[in-house]
Amino acid sequence: MMKEIVVLSSGRGSNFQAIIDAIGRGEIPARCSGLVTDNPSAYAITRAEKAGIPVFIIDFSSFPSREAYEEELLRVLFDLSADLYILAGYMRIVGAGIVSAFRWRMMNIHPALLPGFPGLHAQRQALDYGVRVSGCTVHFVDEGTDSGPVILQACVPVLPGDDEETLSARILEEEHRCLPKAIRLFCDDRLEMIGRQVRILPGNS
Ligand code: GAR
Repeated sequence: MMKEIVVLSSGRGSNFQAIIDAIGRGEIPARCSGLVTDNPSAYAITRAEKAGIPVFIIDFSSFPSREAYEEELLRVLFDLSADLYILAGYMRIVGAGIVSAFRWRMMNIHPALLPGFPGLHAQRQALDYGVRVSGCTVHFVDEGTDSGPVILQACVPVLPGDDEETLSARILEEEHRCLPKAIRLFCDDRLEMIGRQVRILPGNS
C-alpha cells in the first residue's frame, strides 16, 4: 500500500531531490506530503515547489526558545500524520519528545560510517583522523546524536589528495542511492526491529 512520507531539510536539499526523483521513477511506493524546514532560505523549498510538494517553514530564529520551536515542530509533524519522517540534511538535533512520538518511523542520513564521526563536519572529521574508507549511513533516529539503529551503509574510498569538498562529493553520490533505497525498504514493510538491530526482510529487490 502507498505510504505517506515527510522530508525535513535545512538547506540545499539534494537528498530530498533524490527522493523526489526516485518516487517519480516509481522506485518508492510513497507520496511525499510535505517538506519541513527550519530555514526560510533553504534551496529545498524551491525543489518542493517545483515538485508540487507543500512546504512548512518553521523558522527556528523566530522562536523564543528551543523548547517552543520543538513544540511547534512536533505539532506540524503530528498533523501531517505521515508513515515515515526523513531527516535529509536536517541540521538540528531532534528532541526526545519528537523521537519518542515517531519511534522507528524517523530516519536520518549521515555522511560517515557510523558509529565513527557523528555530529557536524563528519567528512572533515574522517579526513582529520586519516581513515582509508568512509561513506554514509541511513539509520533510525533515537535519543542520541547519530546513534540510532543502522538501516543501510555504503562505503567510498578516501583518496590521496582528498579535501573536504572532494570527499563530500564522493559520499553524496552514495547518499543519493542509499537514502531512497532505505525509504523503499521501509515503504515495502521490509524493515523489522530486533532489539536495536534492523533486520531487512527478504523481497524482490
Ligand atoms: C548531506 O551530506 C547529509 O548527509 C548531511 O548534510 C548534507 C545535506 O545535503 N547531513 C548531516 O551532516 C547531518 N548531521 P543535501 O541538503 O544536499 O541533502
